Parts: sequence; C-alpha cells; structure tokens
Amino acid sequence: MENTQAFINQNKERFLDELLDLLKVPSISADASYSKDVHQTAKIVSERLKEAGAENVEICETAGYPIVYADKIIDANLPTVLVYGHYDVQPADPINLWDNPPFEPVVKTTEAHPDGAIFARGACDDKGQMYMHVKAFEAMMKANELPCNVKFMIEGEEEVGSVNLGVFVKNNHSKLAADIILVSDTGMLANDVPSITTGLRGLSYVEVEVTGPNRDLHSGLYGGCVANPLNIMAKMIASLHDENNHITVPGFYDKVIELSAEEREEMGRAPFSKEAYCKSIGIEDVYGEDGYTTMERGSIRPTLDVNGMWGGYIGEGAKTVIASKAYAKISMRLVPDQDPEDITRLFMNHFESIAPKGTKVKVTPHHGGEPAVTPIDSKGYEAASMAYEKTFGKKPIPVRSGGSIPIVAMFEKELGLKTILMGFGLDSDAIHSPNEHFGVFNYYKGIETIPYFYSYFKELLNN
Ligand code: BES
Ligand code: MN
Ligand code: MN
Repeated sequence: MENTQAFINQNKERFLDELLDLLKVPSISADASYSKDVHQTAKIVSERLKEAGAENVEICETAGYPIVYADKIIDANLPTVLVYGHYDVQPADPINLWDNPPFEPVVKTTEAHPDGAIFARGACDDKGQMYMHVKAFEAMMKANELPCNVKFMIEGEEEVGSVNLGVFVKNNHSKLAADIILVSDTGMLANDVPSITTGLRGLSYVEVEVTGPNRDLHSGLYGGCVANPLNIMAKMIASLHDENNHITVPGFYDKVIELSAEEREEMGRAPFSKEAYCKSIGIEDVYGEDGYTTMERGSIRPTLDVNGMWGGYIGEGAKTVIASKAYAKISMRLVPDQDPEDITRLFMNHFESIAPKGTKVKVTPHHGGEPAVTPIDSKGYEAASMAYEKTFGKKPIPVRSGGSIPIVAMFEKELGLKTILMGFGLDSDAIHSPNEHFGVFNYYKGIETIPYFYSYFKELLNN
C-alpha cells in the first residue's frame, strides 16, 4: 500500500477541493423542492467514480431518488468489498443558526479539530465519509494496488428511510454479491481514541394526534369543562416514563437483550468524561434511565423521545383558546431483539388505551428500522482493527452506537452479509444540527485507513 499512501499524500489538496464542491449541492432528500439537486448529486458521484477508475457505472433509477452503482472486478476469485454510503443530506433548518451558509463550505479550526474542519450540511453525514471511499479507491487504482474486487452502492434516500433501497437490494442479489459490506456513516470516540461501531439501534417512529372538541373553543367559556387536547397530550406523554425513567408501554422491554455483567464491564472501559460531555452540549447534568451509565443509556438501552409537539395558538401575544387538536412526533430507538413493527403496535394500543373519555387518539406510524449488532470475532472486524492500528498506531475500541442505519439489518437478511462500520466522525461534529462539520484530519485519516482494510481483508480471507 506504499504507492497508494504516496498518491494520497500527493493529492490531499485536490481531494479536499473535490469534497468542498460536492458539498455545494443541496441534496436534501426530505424536501421535494431540492429534487433537481439530489439528482445532480447522483450524477456528480457517478462521474467521480468513473474518473476514479470504476467500471459499470450506473445511475439506477428507483421510485424515488436513484442509487449510484459502480464496480471494479479484477479477479472473480478474489474477495469483494461492497461499499455503501449516502449522498443525500438532512435539511439545513434552522438556517439562521448557521455561522456560515450550509451549502457554502468553509474550513475553520475548532477545539476538537485543531487541523481544521469542513463546515457544511453533509460534511460528515455522509458526503464527506462516503467520498473518502471514492478517493481511497482512486488512490488504490492509480497506484496499481487494488487488492480485491469492489462494488459501490451509494443511495440518495438514507435520511428519509431508504424505502427504495430495500426494493433495489431485493431485486439485485447477484449484482450485489460480495463478501463484506463496508460503511463509513458512523463515528469514533475521539481523534486519539479510534473505535469501530459494532451496533446500531433500531427505530420506530410515530405521529400522534389527540382530538377534543370539534372546534377551537373560548378558554373562558369552556375552560375547566372539557378535556383540553394539549393538556391531555402533555399528561399522556409524561406518563410514558415512570419515576425511574423506565418506559411504561406494556411489553416494551420484553425482547430487550440484557448484556452480561462482563459485557457491561468491557463497555465501561471506553473513556468517557461526564464533565466534557455536559460541557459540549451546554447542560449541567445528565438525565436518563436508572441503573445505567450514560454510555449504556445511549447505546444498549431503548428510548422514547418526543421530537416535536404542537397545537393551539403559537403566534404572537396571547389568544385565549382551547385547541381542538394536539400533535406530537415520537421516536423510539430500539435495541436487539426489539422488532419495530411489534413496538409500534404496542405503542399504539397503549397510547389509545390511556386517552381519557372526551378525547380521540390517532397514531400514524412512519418509517422504522431494525437494530443491528456486528460480531467482533470476524475476519472483517479483524481487518478493520488492523487497518486502524496501522494508521492511528492504536488498536480501536469496539463501541455500540445510539444512531440508526436501518439498511444494515436489511443487508444481512437480504444478502446474508455482515457490515463493517468504519466511521470517522465525532459526536461533536453536529450532524443533523446547524454548523455540521467534519475534521480535515478525519477525512484524510479515513482515506488512508480504508486501503489497509482492503489489503488485510484480502489477506485474512485467503488464508
Ligand atoms: N449516519 C446516520 C446514523 C448514525 C450517525 C449512526 C452517527 C451512528 C452514528 C444516519 O444518516 C441517520 O441519520 N440515521 C437516522 C435514521 C434514518 C432512518 C433517518 C437516525 O439515526 O436518526
Ligand atoms: Mn448518515
Ligand atoms: Mn443522517
């Protein structure tokens, strides 16, 4: 991999410029008014793959946004790595909280990134991390050191639930045949504490509506006499956690796999500073389920959170009114072996059952996804671990993440393939938030580490 690393070193500036260009296109999948930009981004990604040396480059149309496919098969007898990533990004709202416009990338230093960080929507999630793979591949190609076969599958609907990717994977088993899936769409503990993600939480997401009277009422004439949907909503939501912050939906924990004392002890070895954690997000203390550490609450335990809540009068000044309806959006992060459909059903039944007389409740499910855990005794994990050790000079720590990438469980079911989650972002990179950024150090480290994964994986698989 010497020539590959030399090529990377000689082309660092161009690699950065190309990413900045990619970040200028607002590929927001959730907002149809950006449809042209999303399509445009697919085209750019396909062109970059072609330039890097990929063959069979295709923009595969779906019922939604296209999936970019490309490959380089050097020898059918060699192992094949299937790289997955996404070129779509989250909406940039609230825009006024960005220090620089979200689609005009700039490089600035931060406390966590003294070498500079790229500020733009999608810098870390996932354009920056996806593009590391394109550049690592280019370097291996140009250096004539690609050790095994590679396939790329880059989608444009990850941030809206990957609905059409599921269909694509189901219909393309042989096209996607591989030995391992490689994804960079997660994080690591710190720039001097490399880690590999070994688990993702699942997701069940619902929208709830509580209806009271058939119209908004005068809160003086009717106040005190009818169930106020907003009061009731607040009460119902508050009742979803008990005094120990356990979730009260009956059956919610039935399928949760409790970790052994040894596993929890092992997890507890990862460095964590409560003070730094609190400081980084501007809170005085942490809060959560009794009996678990913050690391555990955020990874191996399921959650229930209100993501948004509205209704009634929210304009300027005061309006005396009892609203007819109240609304909330609720996410539940799930852990093995909770099933998103089961959980949605349990939630629905429970939420409907606790509505008082005089109100009606409607629960609408949104997209969800299954949790996933990846083994740490596989050749893929070992190859990744060796690759990090080579470039960071330290063995990476296995860490279960709190985020969700629902297609990881789907890949295993459909393709029978395990995924290696080699993420290079930091939790402080503000993904989905204003001022999202990605360390320049992290970007280059990713490009340098990926080729070693390929070569170690090939070595391990051929022995
Ligand atoms: N890349 C993230 C998931 C992630 C980030 C996992 C950091 C682990 C660490 C992904 O793009 C994402 O945002 N997923 C969504 C779920 C999806 C169904 C919209 C999430 O986790 O909220
Ligand atoms: Mn992502
Ligand atoms: Mn995301």
